Amino acid sequence: MSYENIIAQKNNGVFTITINRETKLNALNVKTLQEIREAVLSVQNDKEVYGIILTGAGTKAFAAGADIAEFANFTIAQGTEMSAAGHAVMNTLEQSKKPVIAAVNGFALGGGCELAMACHMRVASDNARFGQPEVNLGLVPGYAGTQRLVQLIGKGKAIELLTTGDAINAHEAKSLGLVNHVVEQAELIIKCNEIIDKIKTKAPLAIESVIRLVNANLDKKEDGFANEITDFGNFFGTKDFKEGVDAFLNKRKATFTGE
Ligand code: COA
Repeated sequence: MSYENIIAQKNNGVFTITINRETKLNALNVKTLQEIREAVLSVQNDKEVYGIILTGAGTKAFAAGADIAEFANFTIAQGTEMSAAGHAVMNTLEQSKKPVIAAVNGFALGGGCELAMACHMRVASDNARFGQPEVNLGLVPGYAGTQRLVQLIGKGKAIELLTTGDAINAHEAKSLGLVNHVVEQAELIIKCNEIIDKIKTKAPLAIESVIRLVNANLDKKEDGFANEITDFGNFFGTKDFKEGVDAFLNKRKATFTGE
């Protein structure tokens, strides 16, 4: 599939999506967000893909936010539509069956921070900066930043960042639980690949289930506790469970097939 604003590449079990608007600090216009969604959906049933890395082109920005020039003259109806469409994109990332890691290589502001938060994990380069500066524009976040920031760092600190518009550096973000790891920029993609390489050796159905169950904990319509009991039981009927247990008992390495 060819895209206008992103580059999508499959390599060695990893699907990498790069936002490719470097001169605009990878600002997220509507088309870019839709392309990210399409790319994520395109590999959901691809057995050769074990994980997705989402990053930004260049060394300065992951994404510096929604494209301010694009929405500058929007009406109330257009603003509402923009937010609803953005929420759908973020939900697609969060519900991806393949683990998605945001490789945050610079500014992750506004919609860029929200995009990173919709991923399952975040690895940041040491020049990364995170923030929700929408209040400076007379706005609130529109891609679920008010919700996911609270989930990740707690209410008090989230309200501080959302009301001051302050940006924080990668190390502060790590201390708050907003990012999993901080590495030098040259190591960023290597670190993300290392995580996916580990996941690659595990049972694919178990990986999908973990993502569903963790998401259920945060979804008011789901009962994650009940879902875990059901999923746990169902794994006793899978080939990979038998393989994993047999491998352990016979002191050998398991080979999983996703069945
Ligand atoms: N939307 C549209 N264009 C953006 C953008 C955004 N969110 N963020 C950066 N750009 C564009 C700039 O307009 C500029 O384009 P130009 O060269 O055609 O003038 C280009 O990207 C480079 O940005 P610039 O501001 O010159 O870089 P900088 O290093 O001086 O500052 C930032 C970097 C991130 C601090 C600054 O660009 C910024 O504050 N961006 C907006 C962040 C924001 O408010 N995001 C939330 C949006 S809801």
